[in-house]
Amino acid sequence: MKTIITYGTFDLFHYGHVRLFKRLRAMGDKLIVAVSTDEFNALKGKAAFFSYLQRAEIVEACQYVDMVIPETHWGQKAKDICKYDISTFGIGDDWKGEFDELSVLCDVVYLGRTGEISSTEIKNSLADNGAPANETRK
Ligand code: CTP
Repeated sequence: MKTIITYGTFDLFHYGHVRLFKRLRAMGDKLIVAVSTDEFNALKGKAAFFSYLQRAEIVEACQYVDMVIPETHWGQKAKDICKYDISTFGIGDDWKGEFDELSVLCDVVYLGRTGEISSTEIKNSLADNGAPANETRK
């Protein structure tokens, strides 16, 4: 049994998130997604549009996700890797190099982000003129 884990806020769930989950799930037999709580996001200076419970509900509904857990603090990852017997920690390459220290516990992989989409971009585009994000990029 090969279990994969990833972490993130996953606000305004979009196809970049789906593709990340799909690729991670294909690396093993089970995918655990740790979703940042609102309190943890506040510590990071980040505010999500959807609450933790709403984001967790949406992420859990994705066919590539087997389990959702809350991420409440920075030091949690090493404990989760031991607790859930994780084979691979995976995250987008906007975090490249940031979690290399976890490689003593499991494989660490950084996956290329899907281009031209992010929760921030969706928020900015809607706040700007309400046009679809792909139209504003033309
Ligand atoms: N991700 C991705 N491709 C995208 C957007 C995000 O692969 N186009 C990945 C990130 O690399 C990360 C995970 O999805 O591993 C969660 O990222 P998150 O920050 O929640 O999503 P973003 O859309 O990047 O949100 P924000 O703009 O708030 O940073």
